[in-house]
Amino acid sequence: MKKILDVLTEEMGKAFEAAGYEAALGRVTLSNRPDLCEYQCNGAMAGAKKYKKAPIMIANDVAARLADSPVFKEAAAVAPGFLNLKLSESFLLGMVKAMDSEPKFGLEMPEKPKKIMIDYGGANVAKPLHVGHLRPAIIGESIKRISRYAGHEVIGDVHLGDWGTPIGMVITELQERKPDLPYFDESYQGEYPAEEPITEAEFAEIYPLASAKSKEDAAFKAKALEATRKFQKGVRGYRALWKHIVDVSKVDLKKNYDSLNVEFDLWKGESDVNDLIPEMVDYMKEGGWAYISDGALVVDVKEETDTKEVPPCMILKSDGASLYNTTDLATIMERMRLYDPDEIIYITDKRQDLYFEQVFRCARKTKLVKPETVLKFLGHGTMNGSDGKPFKTRDGGVMRLDVLVRETQEEMYRKIREGREMPEEEAKAVAETVALSALKYGDLSNQAAKDYVFDIDRFTSFEGDTGPYILYTIVRIKSILNKYKEQGGKMEQLAFLEAAGSSEKELEMALVQFNTMIQSAAEEIAPHKVCAYIYDLANAFNHFYHETKILSEEDGARRESLIALLALTRDVLETCIDLLGFSAPEKM
Ligand code: ARG
Repeated sequence: MKKILDVLTEEMGKAFEAAGYEAALGRVTLSNRPDLCEYQCNGAMAGAKKYKKAPIMIANDVAARLADSPVFKEAAAVAPGFLNLKLSESFLLGMVKAMDSEPKFGLEMPEKPKKIMIDYGGANVAKPLHVGHLRPAIIGESIKRISRYAGHEVIGDVHLGDWGTPIGMVITELQERKPDLPYFDESYQGEYPAEEPITEAEFAEIYPLASAKSKEDAAFKAKALEATRKFQKGVRGYRALWKHIVDVSKVDLKKNYDSLNVEFDLWKGESDVNDLIPEMVDYMKEGGWAYISDGALVVDVKEETDTKEVPPCMILKSDGASLYNTTDLATIMERMRLYDPDEIIYITDKRQDLYFEQVFRCARKTKLVKPETVLKFLGHGTMNGSDGKPFKTRDGGVMRLDVLVRETQEEMYRKIREGREMPEEEAKAVAETVALSALKYGDLSNQAAKDYVFDIDRFTSFEGDTGPYILYTIVRIKSILNKYKEQGGKMEQLAFLEAAGSSEKELEMALVQFNTMIQSAAEEIAPHKVCAYIYDLANAFNHFYHETKILSEEDGARRESLIALLALTRDVLETCIDLLGFSAPEKM
């Protein structure tokens, strides 16, 4: 179905034309004075110069043409020349019915769906996830879902950091503990055991220890670097150990991402493009793009219009080792070969802005991508503590992600237990569901690029612009619908009637913004637009709920229409929270 503003603009354009003015003046927007009108058009102001007429005269002419409009119940010309508009209830009813009956609530699918790859997650093997991984995971997951819903083909890739020194540290610590393992014996020719040399529990404890040792003990650090070099070079035992560690770590990472309801289609990592690097390097040299500077292999990426210094993109270090750049570029090469996406979106901390600018320029210059391939970087801000600095544990350390999730669940559990009678097991399950909404909504309701303060008390509140408030609203609707069914009410073939009062009309007006909102959230990769929409919708619903008799409505047809409106509101809200990556419980 068409977007409401397009329909209104079309109707207004016709009125301008009928009154002898150009149709393009009839652009309708949401009202910025909701106390006076629902929508407005400022075209008469814009046309004054062209037609050499006072704007109010133009507005009067146009308003006269709208007297019998089926779309506008009221079109008032007011000084100095605004058109203040109110919708006709029957027109709005038509929009609501269309929304209710069409797939995806009337969201039109793109003529040419895009193939989009999203690079988010970015977890590092051997290291536990920490709060820094929260934002890319939450934002990326939501963008993936929104883009898919908007009709595009989307592939999400975790792009693990699986080729770095943390793995060397774990190997070194393992060697100190179990020097007799065959992996460390370079003369060993036999098969390595299939069994993992390290358990999950051991793994969880080993990295922080090895990382601390690396900081304090220079000899240990040197060994860890050597071990890293060995598994990267392909020394048999070290490579086998590397593989074990990656596998054990993936199990752990999956658990963590699962707890956030975050899923990836691809579990690829930096290591996957290892074999492509020599080929890419040759290609860049042969193309004349890459040259040696101070021993390192680089590609210039500065442009004339640059206002700041953009350093060359380094492809290989002077010792021939590859860098973060190298794997990202080789990954682009691989992605083009295997998937040929129209667009690749990267979601990382915004401090990597310049880095991605270099990588994108280099990929374009060296033609790793097609001229029309879109490379986008969505840099997110930091999650801060109440002191305005990046979030830390109470003793100033880096907060582990699972600890943050657990603390949020505990707080939610406390709040749920406080207000109501609920068996403990159920309260725990509900707290988990609601805590996820608190974390995700608290994050996604901010523009991704902005920093925000993690305020557990506010995020877990049932009131205000929070996840739990949205869930509470959904649960309220579900409970009314359940009562209706218990009383013998049927959910099939409910007919909508025209809105009877202002709060009902406002609820309908909020609902019909859905397709407009989804389209812009997808185009602008902006999950916060979904949050803003459901917050408005939940407010409109709760206002309506407080003003309206629903189950006790005596007129059967009217009661059924109200129930239909409730069911539609619930469906829209549940669809939206699914796009944000969380769900609602049945009760709370
Ligand atoms: N593993 C990296 C880190 O922890 C993030 C990877 C981001 N994605 C990318 N394609 N570079 O900093």
